Amino acid sequence: MVEAVLIDLFSLPASLQSNIQGLLRNTLETIEKCSSLPAPFVYVMCCQRQGSERNSEEESLLPALRDFQSLKTRLEVVRSLTTAAALYTIKQRLDEKDLSIIKVILPALRKDLLKVYIVHLFTAVYQFEFEDLQVAWDCENLQRAEPQSEGQVLPVQDAALIQSEIQMYLESLPSLKGGLTILRSSLIPDDIFLHGFSTRTGGISYIPTLSSCNLFSSSKRRDPQVIVKENLRRLANAAGFNPETFHRVKTDHANAVYIMGKTEPDSYDGIVTNQKGVTIAAPGADCIPVLFADPVRKACGAAHSGWKGTLLGVSMATVNAMVSEYGCNVKDIRVVLGPSVGPCCYKLPHESAKEFYRIDPKCVRQFDSACPYIDIRRATRILLESGGILPENIQDDSITDQSQNITLCTACHPDKFYSHFRDGPNFGTQIGFISIKD
Ligand SMILES: *[C@@H]1O[C@H](CO)[C@@H](O)[C@H](O)[C@H]1NC(C)=O
Repeated sequence: MVEAVLIDLFSLPASLQSNIQGLLRNTLETIEKCSSLPAPFVYVMCCQRQGSERNSEEESLLPALRDFQSLKTRLEVVRSLTTAAALYTIKQRLDEKDLSIIKVILPALRKDLLKVYIVHLFTAVYQFEFEDLQVAWDCENLQRAEPQSEGQVLPVQDAALIQSEIQMYLESLPSLKGGLTILRSSLIPDDIFLHGFSTRTGGISYIPTLSSCNLFSSSKRRDPQVIVKENLRRLANAAGFNPETFHRVKTDHANAVYIMGKTEPDSYDGIVTNQKGVTIAAPGADCIPVLFADPVRKACGAAHSGWKGTLLGVSMATVNAMVSEYGCNVKDIRVVLGPSVGPCCYKLPHESAKEFYRIDPKCVRQFDSACPYIDIRRATRILLESGGILPENIQDDSITDQSQNITLCTACHPDKFYSHFRDGPNFGTQIGFISIKD
């Protein structure tokens, strides 16, 4: 069932304003008459002409709107300078109310154009159906999902213009929840490497569990790629790396490693490089983003290590790739465990806990309970040490930093970090990143 109706009057010229009233009246009448409870939210998207003091369009729409008492509190006119701004504002309204089934009523000529905006600004969480503004209105029309006819393909340059309009708009938005903070380890020498761990502040993501510097988009979440890209641009600016030569692992909760420059596996939780200027990264939202640096051979790596990856030895797999590909001596490799869920909070079913117990009984607390507490960091350290990494070359919560502690618990610090465990399925993601300086 349609949860929201978006009426796109953005492109209609002022000369058609008297017609708009009639159209709008018909549309609203139909919505009011046909809707089963609860009535959908209605957003009318209008162009705010630059320089015009008062908005004559809205004034001319008002009489039409005033008559619809039942829709009154559910109807909003959104005026913006650009379609990107208007649509983004409406997206915020939809997200506030957790709405995802949207009917768009628009002039036929706008359909292809608006679809491009929608593809960029929304994800697969949302369902859109389209209807021409000209059609005669009846109840059947409003409730039936119209089969979407394939319109003409938009010229490439138009699509590119839309993309840059969206980008420019997102760039203009203020950062939310404070400034950008990057955590850095003193174990990784900063004359050779640029590295850090992002935190959740300083981006533009506004949905509570994603706010504000979410760095991962998926079809199940409400942050589209463009927002994640803008957050990454802000992080890159603050950290000093080029977001165009940024490469993150394609997580699979396993132990494959991508050696940059060689064939890229379909998915991998580890990545290594000895190329300068390429920034590699691993995400985490409880899972550990792990960074690797060899100042002697000037090579680096990143890994994503959740409980499965930890058991599968993804960190040692990354070390092994550095040793075999770049001739690193295992004793030179520094390893830093980023913000991740701590042994204070993290629990797994007994079956999985057994496997951690086998690595070391100290990795498990309350082993006899149904859901024992698990220390994935300790398990990672033990596996790294048995692989030959020097204990003093590993930074985790057992070795803290004088200047900045970084292996903090993601679940315990809702103001600093995202946590899947704490926030549920629509969780945000932070990253650890590293590159070799020129
Ligand atoms: C890091 O942790 C240690 C030990 O808990 C503490 O003494 C120190 O003040 C912390 N440093 C920072 C910058 O928070």
